[in-house]
Amino acid sequence: MGIRRLSGGPTDSGRPTDGVAGPGGAVGAGPAGLRDARGRLLRDLRLSVTDRCNFRCPYCMPAEVFGENYRFLPRKDILRFEEILRLARLFVGLGAEKLRITGGEPLVRADLPALVASLAAIPGVRDLALTTNAVLLPDQAERLAEAGLQRVTTSLDSLRPEVFARMSGGRGQPDQVLAGIAAAERAGLTPLKVNCVVQRGVNEDDLLPLARHFRGSGHILRFIEFMDVGTMNGWALDEVVPAREIVDRIDAELPLEPVDPNYAGEVARRYRYRDGSGEIGVIASVTQPFCGGCTRARLSAEGELVTCLFAKGGRDLKTPLRDGLSDETLLKIITGTWSARTDRYSEERSERTGPRKAGERIEMYRIGG
Ligand code: GTP
Ligand code: 5AD
Ligand code: SF4
Ligand code: SF4
Repeated sequence: MGIRRLSGGPTDSGRPTDGVAGPGGAVGAGPAGLRDARGRLLRDLRLSVTDRCNFRCPYCMPAEVFGENYRFLPRKDILRFEEILRLARLFVGLGAEKLRITGGEPLVRADLPALVASLAAIPGVRDLALTTNAVLLPDQAERLAEAGLQRVTTSLDSLRPEVFARMSGGRGQPDQVLAGIAAAERAGLTPLKVNCVVQRGVNEDDLLPLARHFRGSGHILRFIEFMDVGTMNGWALDEVVPAREIVDRIDAELPLEPVDPNYAGEVARRYRYRDGSGEIGVIASVTQPFCGGCTRARLSAEGELVTCLFAKGGRDLKTPLRDGLSDETLLKIITGTWSARTDRYSEERSERTGPRKAGERIEMYRIGG
Protein backbone atom coordinates (compact mmCIF):
# COMPACT_ATOMS: atom_id res chain seq x y z
CA MET A 1 0.00 0.00 0.00
CA GLY A 2 1.53 3.23 -1.10
CA ILE A 3 4.82 1.50 -1.76
CA ARG A 4 5.82 -1.10 -4.20
CA ARG A 5 7.05 -4.40 -2.86
CA LEU A 6 10.58 -5.31 -3.84
CA SER A 7 10.84 -7.61 -6.80
CA GLY A 8 13.76 -9.72 -5.63
CA GLY A 9 12.50 -10.48 -2.15
CA PRO A 10 12.03 -8.25 0.85
CA THR A 11 15.67 -7.69 1.58
CA ASP A 12 16.85 -7.25 -1.98
CA SER A 13 17.75 -3.63 -2.52
CA GLY A 14 17.29 -4.17 -6.22
CA ARG A 15 20.59 -2.43 -6.88
CA PRO A 16 23.77 -3.80 -8.28
CA THR A 17 26.01 -5.20 -5.58
CA ASP A 18 28.18 -2.12 -5.30
CA GLY A 19 27.42 -0.98 -1.76
CA VAL A 20 30.99 0.04 -1.14
CA ALA A 21 32.95 2.37 -3.36
CA GLY A 22 36.31 1.40 -4.71
CA PRO A 23 39.26 3.73 -4.44
CA GLY A 24 38.39 7.16 -5.72
CA GLY A 25 34.63 6.68 -5.11
CA ALA A 26 32.93 10.06 -4.93
CA VAL A 27 32.28 11.42 -1.45
CA GLY A 28 29.15 13.50 -1.04
CA ALA A 29 25.68 13.58 -2.57
CA GLY A 30 25.14 13.05 -6.27
CA PRO A 31 23.32 10.81 -8.68
CA ALA A 32 25.39 7.86 -7.43
CA GLY A 33 24.27 8.48 -3.84
CA LEU A 34 25.90 9.85 -0.74
CA ARG A 35 29.07 8.10 0.38
CA ASP A 36 30.92 8.32 3.66
CA ALA A 37 34.67 8.74 4.13
CA ARG A 38 35.10 5.00 3.60
CA GLY A 39 33.01 4.98 0.45
CA ARG A 40 29.89 3.47 2.04
CA LEU A 41 26.55 4.62 0.65
CA LEU A 42 23.77 5.99 2.81
CA ARG A 43 21.07 3.49 2.00
CA ASP A 44 19.17 2.60 5.18
CA LEU A 45 17.53 4.80 7.75
CA ARG A 46 16.55 3.38 11.12
CA LEU A 47 14.08 5.57 12.95
CA SER A 48 13.73 5.27 16.70
CA VAL A 49 10.32 6.59 17.70
CA THR A 50 10.62 6.20 21.47
CA ASP A 51 13.24 5.42 24.12
CA ARG A 52 10.65 3.49 26.19
CA CYS A 53 9.96 -0.22 26.23
CA ASN A 54 7.55 -2.58 27.97
CA PHE A 55 10.38 -5.15 28.37
CA ARG A 56 13.57 -4.99 30.38
CA CYS A 57 15.88 -7.34 28.48
CA PRO A 58 19.06 -7.50 30.59
CA TYR A 59 21.22 -7.20 27.44
CA CYS A 60 19.54 -3.93 26.46
CA MET A 61 17.62 -2.20 29.30
CA PRO A 62 18.48 -4.00 32.55
CA ALA A 63 15.69 -3.60 35.14
CA GLU A 64 18.14 -2.55 37.85
CA VAL A 65 19.10 0.50 35.76
CA PHE A 66 15.74 1.18 34.11
CA GLY A 67 13.66 1.03 37.30
CA GLU A 68 10.59 2.99 38.40
CA ASN A 69 12.60 6.14 38.92
CA TYR A 70 14.39 6.04 35.58
CA ARG A 71 13.77 9.25 33.69
CA PHE A 72 12.93 8.60 30.08
CA LEU A 73 12.91 11.47 27.63
CA PRO A 74 10.16 13.99 28.27
CA ARG A 75 7.62 14.21 25.46
CA LYS A 76 8.83 17.64 24.33
CA ASP A 77 12.28 16.22 23.60
CA ILE A 78 10.97 13.46 21.35
CA LEU A 79 10.55 14.22 17.67
CA ARG A 80 6.95 14.71 16.62
CA PHE A 81 5.69 12.66 13.68
CA GLU A 82 5.88 15.63 11.30
CA GLU A 83 9.49 16.21 12.35
CA ILE A 84 10.41 12.57 11.77
CA LEU A 85 8.69 12.74 8.41
CA ARG A 86 10.50 15.87 7.33
CA LEU A 87 13.88 14.36 8.17
CA ALA A 88 12.98 11.01 6.61
CA ARG A 89 12.11 12.78 3.34
CA LEU A 90 15.52 14.45 3.35
CA PHE A 91 17.31 11.14 3.97
CA VAL A 92 15.32 9.42 1.21
CA GLY A 93 16.27 12.27 -1.11
CA LEU A 94 19.89 11.48 -0.31
CA GLY A 95 19.48 7.81 -1.27
CA ALA A 96 18.06 6.03 1.80
CA GLU A 97 15.56 3.56 0.40
CA LYS A 98 15.11 1.15 3.31
CA LEU A 99 13.35 2.52 6.36
CA ARG A 100 13.06 0.62 9.63
CA ILE A 101 11.03 1.85 12.59
CA THR A 102 12.58 0.89 15.93
CA GLY A 103 12.61 1.99 19.57
CA GLY A 104 12.87 1.16 22.47
CA GLU A 105 9.63 -0.59 21.61
CA PRO A 106 8.02 1.34 18.77
CA LEU A 107 4.51 0.03 19.38
CA VAL A 108 4.29 1.84 22.74
CA ARG A 109 4.23 5.11 20.80
CA ALA A 110 0.65 6.28 20.29
CA ASP A 111 -0.84 6.29 16.80
CA LEU A 112 2.12 4.67 15.05
CA PRO A 113 0.04 3.70 11.98
CA ALA A 114 -0.28 7.42 11.18
CA LEU A 115 3.51 7.71 10.96
CA VAL A 116 3.71 4.51 8.92
CA ALA A 117 1.19 5.89 6.43
CA SER A 118 3.17 9.06 5.85
CA LEU A 119 6.51 7.26 5.61
CA ALA A 120 5.02 4.78 3.14
CA ALA A 121 3.93 7.65 0.93
CA ILE A 122 7.45 9.08 0.50
CA PRO A 123 8.49 8.52 -3.11
CA GLY A 124 11.66 6.43 -3.25
CA VAL A 125 10.97 4.30 -0.17
CA ARG A 126 11.38 0.71 -1.33
CA ASP A 127 11.22 -1.14 1.97
CA LEU A 128 9.40 -0.19 5.16
CA ALA A 129 9.89 -2.50 8.15
CA LEU A 130 9.37 -2.48 11.91
CA THR A 131 11.39 -4.07 14.72
CA THR A 132 9.23 -4.99 17.71
CA ASN A 133 9.08 -7.34 20.67
CA ALA A 134 5.66 -8.34 19.23
CA VAL A 135 3.63 -8.11 22.44
CA LEU A 136 1.41 -5.33 21.09
CA LEU A 137 1.19 -6.74 17.56
CA PRO A 138 -2.10 -8.63 17.99
CA ASP A 139 -3.81 -5.24 18.50
CA GLN A 140 -1.91 -3.33 15.88
CA ALA A 141 -0.73 -5.59 13.03
CA GLU A 142 -3.78 -5.11 10.85
CA ARG A 143 -3.76 -1.31 11.12
CA LEU A 144 -0.02 -1.17 10.48
CA ALA A 145 -0.36 -3.28 7.35
CA GLU A 146 -3.25 -1.14 6.12
CA ALA A 147 -1.10 1.95 6.67
CA GLY A 148 1.58 0.54 4.37
CA LEU A 149 4.00 -1.32 6.62
CA GLN A 150 5.57 -4.11 4.56
CA ARG A 151 7.18 -6.43 7.08
CA VAL A 152 8.01 -6.98 10.70
CA THR A 153 11.03 -8.30 12.61
CA THR A 154 10.31 -9.62 16.10
CA SER A 155 12.50 -10.83 18.92
CA LEU A 156 12.15 -14.22 20.58
CA ASP A 157 15.02 -15.43 22.73
CA SER A 158 13.48 -18.64 24.04
CA LEU A 159 10.37 -20.78 23.84
CA ARG A 160 10.77 -21.72 27.51
CA PRO A 161 8.70 -19.43 29.75
CA GLU A 162 11.31 -19.25 32.52
CA VAL A 163 14.18 -18.43 30.16
CA PHE A 164 12.06 -15.96 28.22
CA ALA A 165 11.06 -14.28 31.48
CA ARG A 166 14.71 -13.96 32.45
CA MET A 167 15.64 -12.49 29.07
CA SER A 168 12.79 -9.97 29.03
CA GLY A 169 13.34 -8.81 32.61
CA GLY A 170 10.25 -10.67 33.82
CA ARG A 171 8.00 -8.70 31.49
CA GLY A 172 6.87 -11.20 28.91
CA GLN A 173 5.95 -14.72 27.90
CA PRO A 174 6.81 -16.57 24.69
CA ASP A 175 3.10 -17.15 23.98
CA GLN A 176 2.62 -13.40 23.66
CA VAL A 177 5.33 -13.23 21.02
CA LEU A 178 3.90 -16.24 19.19
CA ALA A 179 0.49 -14.52 19.19
CA GLY A 180 2.14 -11.38 17.79
CA ILE A 181 3.85 -13.40 15.08
CA ALA A 182 0.55 -15.04 14.14
CA ALA A 183 -1.11 -11.63 13.94
CA ALA A 184 1.66 -10.28 11.72
CA GLU A 185 1.33 -13.30 9.48
CA ARG A 186 -2.43 -12.86 9.17
CA ALA A 187 -1.90 -9.21 8.29
CA GLY A 188 0.57 -10.14 5.54
CA LEU A 189 3.61 -8.51 7.22
CA THR A 190 5.84 -11.21 5.77
CA PRO A 191 8.31 -12.72 5.32
CA LEU A 192 8.75 -12.29 8.98
CA LYS A 193 12.13 -12.39 10.70
CA VAL A 194 12.58 -13.58 14.27
CA ASN A 195 15.69 -12.37 16.11
CA CYS A 196 17.20 -14.36 18.97
CA VAL A 197 20.08 -12.88 20.96
CA VAL A 198 22.22 -15.81 22.09
CA GLN A 199 23.91 -15.65 25.48
CA ARG A 200 26.25 -18.36 26.72
CA GLY A 201 24.81 -20.17 29.71
CA VAL A 202 21.44 -18.44 29.37
CA ASN A 203 19.66 -19.58 26.20
CA GLU A 204 22.16 -21.67 24.25
CA ASP A 205 19.96 -24.73 24.81
CA ASP A 206 17.16 -22.93 23.00
CA LEU A 207 18.84 -22.83 19.59
CA LEU A 208 17.59 -26.17 18.35
CA PRO A 209 14.06 -25.93 19.78
CA LEU A 210 13.72 -22.51 18.10
CA ALA A 211 15.10 -23.87 14.83
CA ARG A 212 12.70 -26.82 14.93
CA HIS A 213 9.80 -24.52 15.76
CA PHE A 214 10.31 -22.11 12.85
CA ARG A 215 11.50 -24.62 10.25
CA GLY A 216 8.83 -24.92 7.58
CA SER A 217 6.95 -21.84 8.83
CA GLY A 218 8.23 -19.45 6.16
CA HIS A 219 9.62 -17.22 8.92
CA ILE A 220 13.35 -16.54 9.03
CA LEU A 221 15.00 -17.18 12.39
CA ARG A 222 18.20 -15.20 13.00
CA PHE A 223 20.61 -15.79 15.83
CA ILE A 224 22.48 -12.70 17.02
CA GLU A 225 25.78 -12.79 18.86
CA PHE A 226 25.42 -10.98 22.19
CA MET A 227 26.95 -7.55 21.59
CA ASP A 228 28.66 -5.04 23.81
CA VAL A 229 26.25 -2.25 22.91
CA GLY A 230 25.86 0.53 25.44
CA THR A 231 27.57 0.39 28.79
CA MET A 232 25.00 -1.22 31.01
CA ASN A 233 24.60 -4.84 29.97
CA GLY A 234 27.75 -6.16 31.66
CA TRP A 235 28.97 -7.66 28.40
CA ALA A 236 31.82 -10.16 28.52
CA LEU A 237 33.37 -11.95 25.56
CA ASP A 238 32.91 -15.36 27.17
CA GLU A 239 29.13 -14.85 27.07
CA VAL A 240 29.19 -14.69 23.28
CA VAL A 241 28.35 -17.89 21.44
CA PRO A 242 30.19 -17.52 18.12
CA ALA A 243 28.05 -17.74 14.99
CA ARG A 244 30.20 -20.64 13.76
CA GLU A 245 29.25 -22.66 16.82
CA ILE A 246 25.57 -21.76 16.42
CA VAL A 247 25.59 -22.95 12.81
CA ASP A 248 27.48 -26.14 13.70
CA ARG A 249 25.07 -27.02 16.47
CA ILE A 250 22.04 -26.66 14.23
CA ASP A 251 23.73 -28.30 11.25
CA ALA A 252 24.50 -31.37 13.38
CA GLU A 253 20.80 -32.14 13.65
CA LEU A 254 19.24 -30.17 10.79
CA PRO A 255 21.78 -30.09 7.94
CA LEU A 256 22.45 -26.62 6.54
CA GLU A 257 24.19 -25.08 3.56
CA PRO A 258 25.25 -21.44 3.04
CA VAL A 259 23.25 -19.14 0.77
CA ASP A 260 24.46 -15.99 -0.99
CA PRO A 261 23.47 -12.66 0.56
CA ASN A 262 20.26 -11.01 -0.65
CA TYR A 263 22.13 -7.73 -1.04
CA ALA A 264 25.62 -6.32 -0.54
CA GLY A 265 26.32 -5.57 3.09
CA GLU A 266 23.53 -7.80 4.45
CA VAL A 267 23.88 -8.01 8.21
CA ALA A 268 22.88 -11.66 8.52
CA ARG A 269 24.76 -14.58 6.96
CA ARG A 270 22.19 -16.89 5.46
CA TYR A 271 21.94 -20.67 5.61
CA ARG A 272 19.19 -22.94 4.30
CA TYR A 273 18.07 -26.33 5.44
CA ARG A 274 19.24 -28.93 2.96
CA ASP A 275 15.80 -30.53 2.97
CA GLY A 276 14.26 -27.30 1.64
CA SER A 277 12.36 -26.44 4.82
CA GLY A 278 13.50 -22.83 5.02
CA GLU A 279 16.43 -20.67 6.05
CA ILE A 280 18.08 -19.20 9.11
CA GLY A 281 20.56 -16.35 9.56
CA VAL A 282 23.37 -15.55 11.95
CA ILE A 283 24.39 -12.02 12.84
CA ALA A 284 28.03 -12.25 13.84
CA SER A 285 28.84 -8.70 14.77
CA VAL A 286 31.46 -9.88 17.29
CA THR A 287 33.26 -12.70 15.47
CA GLN A 288 32.70 -11.65 11.83
CA PRO A 289 32.11 -7.90 11.74
CA PHE A 290 30.37 -6.35 8.75
CA CYS A 291 31.30 -2.66 9.01
CA GLY A 292 32.74 -2.65 5.48
CA GLY A 293 29.25 -2.75 4.01
CA CYS A 294 27.47 -0.71 6.65
CA THR A 295 25.04 1.66 4.94
CA ARG A 296 22.89 2.33 8.02
CA ALA A 297 22.08 5.75 9.44
CA ARG A 298 20.11 5.98 12.66
CA LEU A 299 17.84 8.76 13.87
CA SER A 300 17.34 8.65 17.63
CA ALA A 301 13.98 9.44 19.22
CA GLU A 302 15.34 12.81 20.30
CA GLY A 303 16.48 13.66 16.80
CA GLU A 304 20.18 12.85 16.69
CA LEU A 305 21.77 11.43 13.56
CA VAL A 306 23.83 8.48 14.79
CA THR A 307 26.28 6.97 12.32
CA CYS A 308 27.16 3.80 14.27
CA LEU A 309 25.33 1.53 16.70
CA PHE A 310 28.30 1.94 19.02
CA ALA A 311 28.70 5.70 18.67
CA LYS A 312 29.22 7.90 21.69
CA GLY A 313 26.59 10.34 20.50
CA GLY A 314 25.07 11.83 17.44
CA ARG A 315 24.63 15.02 15.43
CA ASP A 316 21.69 16.97 16.81
CA LEU A 317 19.15 17.57 14.04
CA LYS A 318 16.25 18.54 16.30
CA THR A 319 17.64 21.95 17.26
CA PRO A 320 18.22 23.14 13.69
CA LEU A 321 14.86 21.66 12.72
CA ARG A 322 13.03 23.48 15.51
CA ASP A 323 15.02 26.65 14.87
CA GLY A 324 13.32 26.76 11.50
CA LEU A 325 16.33 26.10 9.29
CA SER A 326 15.64 25.36 5.65
CA ASP A 327 15.69 21.92 4.03
CA GLU A 328 18.80 23.00 2.21
CA THR A 329 20.64 23.74 5.45
CA LEU A 330 19.45 20.51 7.06
CA LEU A 331 20.62 18.60 3.99
CA LYS A 332 24.02 20.21 4.33
CA ILE A 333 24.27 19.08 7.95
CA ILE A 334 23.25 15.52 7.11
CA THR A 335 25.53 15.35 4.09
CA GLY A 336 28.46 16.75 6.04
CA THR A 337 27.95 14.27 8.89
CA TRP A 338 27.64 11.24 6.61
CA SER A 339 30.53 12.33 4.37
CA ALA A 340 32.82 12.55 7.40
CA ARG A 341 31.76 9.13 8.74
CA THR A 342 34.59 6.71 9.45
CA ASP A 343 32.88 4.37 11.99
CA ARG A 344 33.91 0.73 11.98
CA TYR A 345 33.44 -0.11 15.62
CA SER A 346 32.84 -3.85 15.36
CA GLU A 347 35.96 -4.29 13.28
CA GLU A 348 37.96 -2.43 15.93
CA ARG A 349 36.36 -4.27 18.83
CA SER A 350 38.85 -7.08 19.08
CA GLU A 351 41.47 -4.54 20.13
CA ARG A 352 39.29 -3.09 22.89
CA THR A 353 37.14 -5.60 24.70
CA GLY A 354 37.68 -4.17 28.18
CA PRO A 355 34.85 -2.74 30.35
CA ARG A 356 33.43 0.62 29.39
CA LYS A 357 32.43 3.59 31.51
CA ALA A 358 28.86 4.92 31.51
CA GLY A 359 28.41 7.65 28.91
CA GLU A 360 31.21 6.34 26.78
CA ARG A 361 28.71 4.98 24.26
CA ILE A 362 25.18 5.62 23.26
CA GLU A 363 22.74 3.08 24.73
CA MET A 364 21.03 0.67 22.33
CA TYR A 365 17.51 1.36 23.67
CA ARG A 366 17.91 4.96 22.50
CA ILE A 367 18.54 4.05 18.88
CA GLY A 368 17.04 0.58 18.43
CA GLY A 369 18.94 -2.40 17.10
P1 GTP B 1 16.88 -6.77 6.96
O1 GTP B 1 17.97 -7.53 6.27
O2 GTP B 1 16.51 -5.53 6.25
O3 GTP B 1 15.70 -7.61 7.28
O4 GTP B 1 17.36 -6.23 8.33
P2 GTP B 1 18.62 -6.50 9.19
O5 GTP B 1 19.31 -7.75 8.78
O6 GTP B 1 19.38 -5.23 9.26
O7 GTP B 1 17.99 -6.91 10.54
P3 GTP B 1 17.60 -6.12 11.82
O8 GTP B 1 17.35 -4.73 11.51
O9 GTP B 1 16.52 -6.91 12.43
O10 GTP B 1 18.91 -6.25 12.67
C1 GTP B 1 19.08 -7.40 13.43
C2 GTP B 1 20.07 -7.18 14.52
O11 GTP B 1 21.36 -7.07 13.93
C3 GTP B 1 19.90 -5.90 15.30
O12 GTP B 1 18.95 -6.04 16.30
C4 GTP B 1 21.27 -5.72 15.84
O13 GTP B 1 21.42 -6.59 16.94
C5 GTP B 1 22.13 -6.21 14.69
N1 GTP B 1 22.52 -5.11 13.81
C6 GTP B 1 21.74 -4.48 12.89
N2 GTP B 1 22.42 -3.51 12.29
C7 GTP B 1 23.65 -3.51 12.84
C8 GTP B 1 24.81 -2.72 12.66
O14 GTP B 1 24.83 -1.81 11.83
N3 GTP B 1 25.88 -3.02 13.41
C9 GTP B 1 25.89 -4.01 14.31
N4 GTP B 1 27.00 -4.23 14.97
N5 GTP B 1 24.80 -4.77 14.53
C10 GTP B 1 23.70 -4.53 13.81
N1 5AD C 1 23.29 -7.78 21.59
C1 5AD C 1 22.71 -8.18 20.44
N2 5AD C 1 21.52 -7.72 20.02
C2 5AD C 1 20.88 -6.85 20.80
N3 5AD C 1 19.70 -6.25 20.67
C3 5AD C 1 19.50 -5.44 21.74
N4 5AD C 1 20.54 -5.51 22.59
C4 5AD C 1 21.42 -6.40 22.02
C5 5AD C 1 22.68 -6.90 22.40
N5 5AD C 1 23.27 -6.52 23.54
C6 5AD C 1 18.83 -6.41 19.49
C7 5AD C 1 18.03 -7.66 19.51
C8 5AD C 1 16.65 -7.25 19.72
C9 5AD C 1 16.69 -5.92 19.02
C10 5AD C 1 15.60 -4.99 19.39
O1 5AD C 1 17.93 -5.38 19.38
O2 5AD C 1 18.00 -8.15 18.19
O3 5AD C 1 15.82 -8.20 19.12
FE1 SF4 D 1 12.95 -3.55 24.68
FE2 SF4 D 1 13.96 -4.62 22.47
FE3 SF4 D 1 15.59 -3.55 24.29
FE4 SF4 D 1 14.33 -5.81 24.85
S1 SF4 D 1 15.85 -5.52 23.22
S2 SF4 D 1 14.52 -4.02 26.22
S3 SF4 D 1 12.37 -5.52 23.81
S4 SF4 D 1 14.08 -2.44 23.07
FE1 SF4 E 1 27.94 -0.18 11.15
FE2 SF4 E 1 28.97 0.58 13.48
FE3 SF4 E 1 27.68 -1.77 13.23
FE4 SF4 E 1 30.10 -1.42 12.13
S1 SF4 E 1 29.61 -1.41 14.31
S2 SF4 E 1 28.30 -2.40 11.19
S3 SF4 E 1 29.95 0.72 11.49
S4 SF4 E 1 26.78 0.29 12.99
